[in-house]
Amino acid sequence: MKNKHEFLEKNVGWLAIMILVVISFGGLVEITPLMFLKQTTQPVKGLKPYSALELEGRDIYIREGCVGCHSQMIRPFRHETERYGHYSVAGESVWDHPFLWGSKRTGPDLARVGGRYSDDWHRVHLTDPRAVVPESIMPGFPWLNDNILDGSLTARKMTVLKGLGVPYTDEQIANAQKEVKGHTEMDALVAYLQSLGKALQ
Ligand code: HEC
Repeated sequence: MKNKHEFLEKNVGWLAIMILVVISFGGLVEITPLMFLKQTTQPVKGLKPYSALELEGRDIYIREGCVGCHSQMIRPFRHETERYGHYSVAGESVWDHPFLWGSKRTGPDLARVGGRYSDDWHRVHLTDPRAVVPESIMPGFPWLNDNILDGSLTARKMTVLKGLGVPYTDEQIANAQKEVKGHTEMDALVAYLQSLGKALQ
């Protein structure tokens, strides 16, 4: 055997083993640092879990398919940050289960829509978008004004989220139904929209 490399080239078994060693070293170099990267697992400063009403609003956002037309993910490009504000960071959605980043933008990104319009604007817009944006192609969701929430499942939803690491207090969970009961679905959805992106605005 002239050299070790020739040995490897002539022994397929050893060649396969050494290829695996080299590839797994490359993999480890990429993967190991991610396990210690707090940036993707730690909430940004000032992040608050959704209130009971906002949480119900989020479920309505999911049910009505808003995510099919709206992303919640501002990319770090100048034309995006000038239009929508600070780009999205992972620490903002650590408590979102499931996350709603989306990938389709028929309408504008909503990651930082909280506080951009008044509650009344949202109510009119969601009931009949063309009443405030004449050229809008967004569908109206007028039934949200008629559906009344009873909040009977809110506490259970918050308990499940707590199990996934969302820091709800026992008091918040105990008061959940009281906070939600009697509100319309519109109230909840608007509360959710107004909460979006506040931590990093
Ligand atoms: C078929 C696609 C479509 C669906 C579904 C849809 N939207 Fe829209 N949305 C649009 C379009 C297009 C616009 C831009 C025109 C306008 O403002 O109405 C828009 C605008 C908006 C705006 C204003 C954003 C801004 O920065 O001006 C909000 C808020 C909004 N949508 C919320 C929602 C919510 C909440 C839902 C679900 C209940 C929803 N949309 C469902 C297409 C859609």
